[in-house]
Amino acid sequence: MSATKKLFIKTYGCQMNVYDSERMAEAMGGQGYVTTDSPDDADMILLNTCHIREKAAEKVYSELGRYKGLKAEKPDLKIGVAGCVAQAEGAEIMRRQPLVDLVVGPQSYHRLPELEARARAGEKALDTDFPAEDKFDHLAARPKAKRGPSAFLTVQEGCDKFCAFCVVPYTRGAEVSRPADRILAEARDLVERGVREITLLGQNVNAYHGHERGLAGLIRDLAGIDGLARIRFTTSHPNDMDDDLIAAHGDCDKLMPYLHLPVQSGSDRILKRMNRQHTRDQYFAIIDRLRAVRPDLHLSGDFIVGFPEETETDFADTMELIERVGYGSAFSFKYSTRPGTPAAERDQVPEDIKDDRLQRLQALITRQQRAVQDAMVGREVAVLFEKPGRMAGQMVGKSEHLHAVHVTAEGLAPGDLRRVRIVGSGPNSLSGVLI
Ligand code: 5AD
Ligand code: SF4
Repeated sequence: MSATKKLFIKTYGCQMNVYDSERMAEAMGGQGYVTTDSPDDADMILLNTCHIREKAAEKVYSELGRYKGLKAEKPDLKIGVAGCVAQAEGAEIMRRQPLVDLVVGPQSYHRLPELEARARAGEKALDTDFPAEDKFDHLAARPKAKRGPSAFLTVQEGCDKFCAFCVVPYTRGAEVSRPADRILAEARDLVERGVREITLLGQNVNAYHGHERGLAGLIRDLAGIDGLARIRFTTSHPNDMDDDLIAAHGDCDKLMPYLHLPVQSGSDRILKRMNRQHTRDQYFAIIDRLRAVRPDLHLSGDFIVGFPEETETDFADTMELIERVGYGSAFSFKYSTRPGTPAAERDQVPEDIKDDRLQRLQALITRQQRAVQDAMVGREVAVLFEKPGRMAGQMVGKSEHLHAVHVTAEGLAPGDLRRVRIVGSGPNSLSGVLI
C-alpha cells in the first residue's frame, strides 16, 4: 500500500461549505491524505452536506447509496458525512445508511483526524458537539501552496435570528465571530500565495463583531493589505446593515459594488410571519441609502415562494418589490418544510401553487438579470482573470459586479487584473476586449 491515502470530498450547499471542505482537506493532509477528483480511487469519501431544504438533505442519501459497490470491493474505504445534515441527524445517519463510518458536525472539523483514526480502528465515530474552542485555530495551518486569484474566508458562523423557516440556527448554532487579528493574518497569507480577491463569509456576515468597529472595521483593515485588490462579503441580513457598513460601500475602493441582501418576501404580512424583524419599507430605505453612496451597486437577493399562508396578494407584493429594486441576480426557492422549525407546523401552500409562483418569479428575475447584464455592453470594466475559457486563447474572469467575462487575448494569466471593454452579452456571461 502506498504511503499517501486519497480523500474524495463532495461539497453541497453554500460557500461556507466550500471553505470548510478546503480546510478539512488541509487538516487531513497532516494525516497523509491527498485529495482526488474521483470516489473510485479514494481511501476516504467525505460528503460535506447541506440541510437547508429537504431536497438538499435527501441528495446525501442517494449519493451514499451509490457507494455500496465501492465499499464491497474495498472494505478499507471509510465513508464520512460532514456538514449540516451531520449536525441535524447525527447517529440517525448511520442507522439509515450503515455504510457510513463517521459523522462530523460543522463545528467539530478540527477533530476529523482523530475521528478518522477511530473509524480506521473499526469504530463508528460521531462528533456533533459545539465545542467552545475555535475550530479554525485547531485546524492545521494552510500549506504554503500557490492559490487561485479568488478565495473565501469564513469570518463568522451561525445565526441568532431564527427566521421561522430556517434550520441554520439549529445546525450551525449561535452567532460566533472570529477575532479580526486571525482573519487579517489569514488574509495576508492568502495574498502571499497569489490571492487578489477575498470573499468574507458568514451565515450572517454583517453581524460580525470580532472587530471593535464590526464588519466595516474589518473590511477597512483588510483594504490596507497591499496586493489585495478586491473585497466582497456574503450573506447579509438587512437589520445588520449599519451606518459604517453602508458608508464603506461609498468610500472603500476595494469593496466591490455588489451586495447580496436577501429579503425573502415583499409582503409585510409574510415578513412578520417569517420573523424577519423588518418591513419592506425598511428594506427599501437601506437600499436607497446604499445607492446614494454607490449608485452603480448591483443587488442580489434570496426569495422564498409559498411560505405557509402566502396568498396571491402577498406574492404580488413580492413581485412588486422585485420590480422596484431591480436585481442584478437573485436566488429563489419554493418553501421547504424543515422539521423542528416554527413554520413547519403551519398551513402549507399546495405544491402546484408554489410551482406556479416560482416560475413567474424566476421569469421576472431572469428578465432583470439579463437587462442589467445587457446594459454593460459598451462599458469599460475591470476584470480579475481566473482561468482559461473553453476556446483556445480565451480567459475568463469576473467584473466588479460579479459578471463572468470572456476575453480572447495573448499573454493573459490567472490573477491579472485588466481593463476590458464589454462587446457582447450572452445568456450567462459577457464578452470583452482588452483596453
Ligand atoms: N425553504 C426554502 N428556502 C429556504 N431558505 C432557507 N430555509 C429555507 C426553507 N425552509 C433559503 C432562504 C435563504 C437561503 C440560503 O435559503 O432564501 O436566504
Ligand atoms: Fe436562516 Fe434567517 Fe439566520 Fe439567514 S438570517 S441563516 S435565513 S435564520
